[in-house]
Amino acid sequence: MTLKQRKIVVTSALPYANGPIHLGHLVEYIQTDIWTRFQRLRGHECFYVCADDAHGTPIMLKSRDESITPEQLIERIGKEHQADFADFNIAFDNYYSTHSEENRGFAEQIFCALDQAGHIARRTIVQAYDPEENIFLPDRFIRGECPRCDAGDQYGDNCEVCGATYSPVELKNAVSAISGAKPVERESEHFFVQLGDFESMLREWTGAGHLQPEVRNKLEEWFSAGLQDWDISRDAPYFGFEIPGHPDKYFYVWLDAPIGYMASFKNYCDAHGMDFMSYWGEKSEAELYHFIGKDILYFHTLFWPAMLHGSNFRKPTAVFAHGFLTVNGLKMSKSRNTFIMARTYLNHLDPDYLRYYFAAKLNHRVEDIDLNLEDFILRVNSDLVGKIVNIASRCAGFIHKRFDDELGPVLDDNDLFQRITASSEQIALCYENREFSKAMRVIMALADEANQYISDREPWVVAKTEGQSDQLQAICTQGLNLFRVLMTWLSPVVPSLSSRVENFLNTSISQPGDWESVSTPLHNHKITPFRHLLKRVEQKDIDNMTDESAEIAESASTEPSRPMAKNPIAEEIGIDTFAKIDLRVALVADAGPVEGADKLIRLTLDLGGETRNVFAGIKSAYDPARLIGRMVVMVANLAPRKMRFGVSEGMVLAASSDESGLYILSPDEGAEPGMRIS
Ligand code: 2FM
Ligand code: ZN
Repeated sequence: MTLKQRKIVVTSALPYANGPIHLGHLVEYIQTDIWTRFQRLRGHECFYVCADDAHGTPIMLKSRDESITPEQLIERIGKEHQADFADFNIAFDNYYSTHSEENRGFAEQIFCALDQAGHIARRTIVQAYDPEENIFLPDRFIRGECPRCDAGDQYGDNCEVCGATYSPVELKNAVSAISGAKPVERESEHFFVQLGDFESMLREWTGAGHLQPEVRNKLEEWFSAGLQDWDISRDAPYFGFEIPGHPDKYFYVWLDAPIGYMASFKNYCDAHGMDFMSYWGEKSEAELYHFIGKDILYFHTLFWPAMLHGSNFRKPTAVFAHGFLTVNGLKMSKSRNTFIMARTYLNHLDPDYLRYYFAAKLNHRVEDIDLNLEDFILRVNSDLVGKIVNIASRCAGFIHKRFDDELGPVLDDNDLFQRITASSEQIALCYENREFSKAMRVIMALADEANQYISDREPWVVAKTEGQSDQLQAICTQGLNLFRVLMTWLSPVVPSLSSRVENFLNTSISQPGDWESVSTPLHNHKITPFRHLLKRVEQKDIDNMTDESAEIAESASTEPSRPMAKNPIAEEIGIDTFAKIDLRVALVADAGPVEGADKLIRLTLDLGGETRNVFAGIKSAYDPARLIGRMVVMVANLAPRKMRFGVSEGMVLAASSDESGLYILSPDEGAEPGMRIS
């Protein structure tokens, strides 16, 4: 059956260019990448584009902290993001940046179209302003006490302790998180998109099959609450695009972020001689899909279609939202060592494992998915190694030794081959509908059948029986053909394994259009000698990964911060709060390196009768031998922290700064181990 070729453009949300990619991000990129690889495998034209989301106040301030320009920061982070994605085999056709001329052009074009059609209102608003830094403060940059529960050091928009939401003016004893100054109120003119102008279009669009059912219900709530005008401008200083004709006014980062999808695609079209408007024009017959997290639905299902509609571009065919990632059932957390960066994972584990594990968990609903690290080991080893690769390893040796690496002219059981390949369209439908977990279940059930077939036919017995050579070749040809079929179906999920299988089987299984070839078995075909295809996941790989995450968290807590005067690192506290910290003088009784940890030193601290084991992230500045016999200051009542090397039972105090490194604090001469510091 030949399918009508579809023209498809797919995007994932653009990651902010101010921090590394972590496993939470990867749920979406892996989900999208599997889907786009599937579409290409089916022979469709499918482009997957993305970019770094490069604008906004956090990026401007971070670059200032690092004494570099925002352009330098976004270039560095952009390279890190792209290396992480490439190593996870996320096959973007184009990866760009929202800080590009194409994006500026589209942002201006869309803004002007909306403005000319009367959809942009101008209003003067009052906002919190930092009088020392001369900058308007986004809610996230105001800290203070929660107006409801009095919890200290809360953000300007919501309380992490009691969950209250409020406006920054309600926060008690508010300070600027940038300078520590007390914010003042200041007026400024802002631009607003009048979202209400688009209500009837949005009601129709959101009800017309472009969204998941649970998302439609959410939208009903938003419509009932009334569509509010959307503030799309920010005042200088701001890292972004200046609004044409309005000096010192900038487009808010969320205005030009989704436009970045268009800019990245335009950049690709220009490089490949393609007509952008045949994909993004109002009359386009191409399909356009956005994969996003559930937290950014409002932007993608209301603002974005309104912006596109108001500027005469096409609207998305569908927006696909997914849930968040939990690790071992809980939110990713630095203190539990489960805040795992993409790079940390890659330092220890094969990307295909995580791709398969996510595929085995993902469905078309907006549900959170859990990465349970024990289950991860079991699932990957049992399915990919125990079921799939096992089929090949049970048959390949005979084909090599007895048949000079050549598959035979017939299958041993053609009916079985037909029965198994008959699931092809069912599996395709699962992929198409983003029911990946169901697709994996069906494929693994078929792998069980293939393994059962081999167990029943016992090629190892046939191999020892005189005169059954043809039968042996037919059985192994059958097994390897079933392996090829299963691996073709799995190839969108496990690209590295697939490419090793392509070398082994000496045939293509993951290239455009290959899906169709599963119905035709390979005969009289030379393969290559079987080499190891996939190693089992081991507990120690997982331990090493979580330990490295702990090390990163540990060294981040001793990372240099900005100079004090401009940057209070914490809210003011009373003496009672300070007294809760049990600070002690301690003698370094022993110190040594920690095998497998580049940044840590193991310290045995004598507290005057009691000893504690502490892992300190100070190796960059100290030779362990030099520390033995020294007095230090330790936090003695810090909750113990479990690491692979052992439990860390406290923390040693050290001063640090960007320029001049790390300095352990010591008491004056005469102080004795165990003395209380107050
Ligand atoms: O939430 C985020 O991480 C944003 N950077 C996503 C932007 S998606 C798109 F609109 F650009
Ligand atoms: Zn509160």
